[in-house]
Amino acid sequence: MKLAIGCDHGGYNLKTAILEHLDKKGIEYKDFGCYSTESCDYPDFAEKVAEAIVNGECERGIIICGTGIGISIAANKVPGIRAAHCTDTFSAKASRQHNDANILALGERITGVGLALDIVDAYLEAEFEGGRHQRRVDKITEIEKKYSK
Ligand code: RB5
Repeated sequence: MKLAIGCDHGGYNLKTAILEHLDKKGIEYKDFGCYSTESCDYPDFAEKVAEAIVNGECERGIIICGTGIGISIAANKVPGIRAAHCTDTFSAKASRQHNDANILALGERITGVGLALDIVDAYLEAEFEGGRHQRRVDKITEIEKKYSK
């Protein structure tokens, strides 16, 4: 599985720790930036990661900003994206099993590195369960289509 990774300045340090973690696990990724703690705008990186997923270049993504909120809101504007902002492992696992979340969003100023790496593992190891959850995800897609121009 190839991951798309992105962050703003508020998520840069946590992104660095996550990339080291992925390297140790041998998980392939593409880093869409940002590449320093210099101030930048989280929607730019949310869009790059989201596009890589909807165009098929990457299968899933991880995005990080200060809170995880702004970058997840931005990513969820791209049709086909289901970005889940998680602060615990149970939610990260459920976001895959129930919601087929194709992006995990984290907040560097909210979640410590140790827990964040456990959340990443929980998210990456869980699979979508389909069944009744597929019906609900399909309804999300229908809402998206209804309000897309
Ligand atoms: C940047 O200061 C901060 O607003 C951003 O990283 C994020 O927390 C927004 O939701």
